[in-house]
Amino acid sequence: MIETMRENIEQIVEQACAADTNIFGYDIWTHHILKVIENTERLASHFDADPEIVELAALLHDYASIKDKALYADHHIHGPIEAEKLLKRFGYPEEKTEAVKDAIATHRASVTVEHRSAEGACLANADAMSHIEQVPSLLYLAYIHHEMGIDEGKMWVKAKLQRSWQKLREDVQDLVRDKYEAALKVL
Ligand SMILES: [Fe+2]
Ligand SMILES: [Fe+2]
Repeated sequence: MIETMRENIEQIVEQACAADTNIFGYDIWTHHILKVIENTERLASHFDADPEIVELAALLHDYASIKDKALYADHHIHGPIEAEKLLKRFGYPEEKTEAVKDAIATHRASVTVEHRSAEGACLANADAMSHIEQVPSLLYLAYIHHEMGIDEGKMWVKAKLQRSWQKLREDVQDLVRDKYEAALKVL
C-alpha cells in the first residue's frame, strides 16, 4: 500500500516539476528532489531516522514552491499543508503524516529552528548535501536562471555552498568533504 501511495505521490510531484508554472524547471525533479531522496536513504541510519517518513518528506519538501512560486519564501510553512492534503488523500496514518509534516517544516536551516526531529535533521542534511553534490545545478541557476555575470554567479554559488556546508552535521561533512573542497578550489 505504501509503495503504491509513494508511486502516486511521486507522479504528482514529478508532474508539478514538469509544469510550465514551475519556475525552477524540470531539472529540480532530476537534480534536486530525486537526489535529496537518495541522500535521505543514505543518511537515515546515521540519524536514527525512520526511512519511510524521511523519504516521503524528501519527496514533498519543496513541493509547495514548485507548485506555486508565490509560496517559495514560506515553503517550509506551505509545504506541510500541501503534504497533509496529499497524504490524507491516500489514507496515510495521521501520526506518520504529522512526522512527515514536521520534517518538512524544519528542513530549511536558513529559517531558525528550535526543535528538530531525527527525520527533520536528516532531511535538512540531505537537502544541504545535495547542493554540495550538485555544483553544476547551482551554476545553471546562477547563470541561466538568475542571469548573473561570471563573477557574480561564482560568488553566489560559493556563498550558497558555504551556507550548505555550515548546515551539515560533522559526520555528514566528512562524507562530502572532497567534493566541497574541490568545488571551492574551482570557484
Ligand atoms: Fe526547500
Ligand atoms: Fe530542497
